Amino acid sequence: MKPRITTRKSLAGGRIVFLGSFPDVVPRVGLPEVAFAGRSNVGKSSAINRLLKTGKAARVSSTPGRTQAVNLFEVEKRLVLADLPGYGFAKVPEAVQRRWKALVEGYLADRPDLRLAVLLLDPRREPQDMDATLLWGLRQARIPVLVLATKIDKVKKSKAKAAVRRLREAYRLAPEECLAFSALSGQGADEAWAVINGAVR
Ligand code: GTP
Ligand code: MG
Repeated sequence: MKPRITTRKSLAGGRIVFLGSFPDVVPRVGLPEVAFAGRSNVGKSSAINRLLKTGKAARVSSTPGRTQAVNLFEVEKRLVLADLPGYGFAKVPEAVQRRWKALVEGYLADRPDLRLAVLLLDPRREPQDMDATLLWGLRQARIPVLVLATKIDKVKKSKAKAAVRRLREAYRLAPEECLAFSALSGQGADEAWAVINGAVR
């Protein structure tokens, strides 16, 4: 049976509509879509909240690996942001990891409205296999990618540029595919919107 959107929860005075949380199959909305992916706890939900200028659209968790569903947010009747469940949290049982893989791979493989995947990476961490695998999958599927080098507020100012450069080199990203970002300070938010708006136009 095809899943349908049955709830529409209005947020931020109607500017944002929460379309629901989908643990299996993600219904199509019919608007250009931008997905946020990355390791558990890397800051996907926080980035979405910062970009939507609201503290409470996407749920931010202190316990990683809790959200095992795709959450959809409609923005200004213009585009959809998809908050994908995070991967790579060691304490998550293997069966759950497998379900994650099926959900995210299924989503990415069959999402005609997907215009951009925003991949969040923490520049303080060594490149991870799961990150590289996901990036490879996105390239294969010819989905445009924007990497947010996030939590940049935790990197000393003098080291931030080099940290971002290291990420670019490790993942072979074009300069315009990688931005320093902080959900805390808002650094990079305007630049990220410019890329998102370009992708959904
Ligand atoms: P899952 O849904 O579990 O996959 O996690 P997530 O990727 O959505 O991460 P979430 O947004 O829930 O953030 C995880 C933790 O990192 C929270 O404690 C956030 O407050 C913190 N955090 C997220 N972004 C930033 C950032 O830019 N700077 C700082 N200092 N902390 C951040
Ligand atoms: Mg989250």
